[in-house]
Amino acid sequence: MYNIAIDGPVGSGKSTLAKMLAKRLDFHFLDTGALYRGMACYFRYKNIVEINENSINSIIDEITVKVKFIDNVQHVIVSGIDFTSNLREEEISMLSSKISNYPQIRDKILDIQRDFAKEYDCVLEGRDIGTVVLPNADLKIYLTANEKTRAQRRYEQDKLKNPNISYQEILKDLKERDFENEHRKIAPLRPAEDSVIIDNSDINLEQTCDLCENIFKQKIANK
Ligand code: DC
Repeated sequence: MYNIAIDGPVGSGKSTLAKMLAKRLDFHFLDTGALYRGMACYFRYKNIVEINENSINSIIDEITVKVKFIDNVQHVIVSGIDFTSNLREEEISMLSSKISNYPQIRDKILDIQRDFAKEYDCVLEGRDIGTVVLPNADLKIYLTANEKTRAQRRYEQDKLKNPNISYQEILKDLKERDFENEHRKIAPLRPAEDSVIIDNSDINLEQTCDLCENIFKQKIANK
């Protein structure tokens, strides 16, 4: 199976790129952030919003995570509850970032991600795909863009759902999440040594996707 790993910070465009690239190559696509988001929804559902070692341990054994594809939409089912419609809520963004610092949480979904990659030609998108989940991926992309560009993109997206949201709020949230993701002890966000680093601040999605597709095809041709 061919596996492509795409990692990068919030708002770098990983998810849109991963979907587009998967479509062009006729590969499957897995949004791994959605798995952390699903677990965060379960924490909130159980009224656990104070995240620490004790609160994680109090609930971890009852958590089961499943991924299902229904009409091409990735659904995340945690302990029997389908949280798909809540995954993108702002509160869940922050909560998922917090719980993702804990190894108990990361271990829960490691095998789901690896099994998916064994079963399908696929593009996996996340934070630690190239460094931890799929160290032998055929291509590892680390996608980034400058802070302001990323915040602006998030702002354009989020204001459609929430017209009261401000750019400054998004920038602040993005900096916080960057810090959390880059400084956690386990699986911190960083480029894998053998990744191709792409800064897409000044190129559009189509151009970014062309670039990745060409690099992938060259890699495969040279194998
Ligand atoms: O990509 P996202 O914003 O949907 O991810 C939500 C959170 O999950 C993110 O703040 C960090 C965490 N995450 C992670 O730790 N490792 C991944 N592979 C994907 C996401």
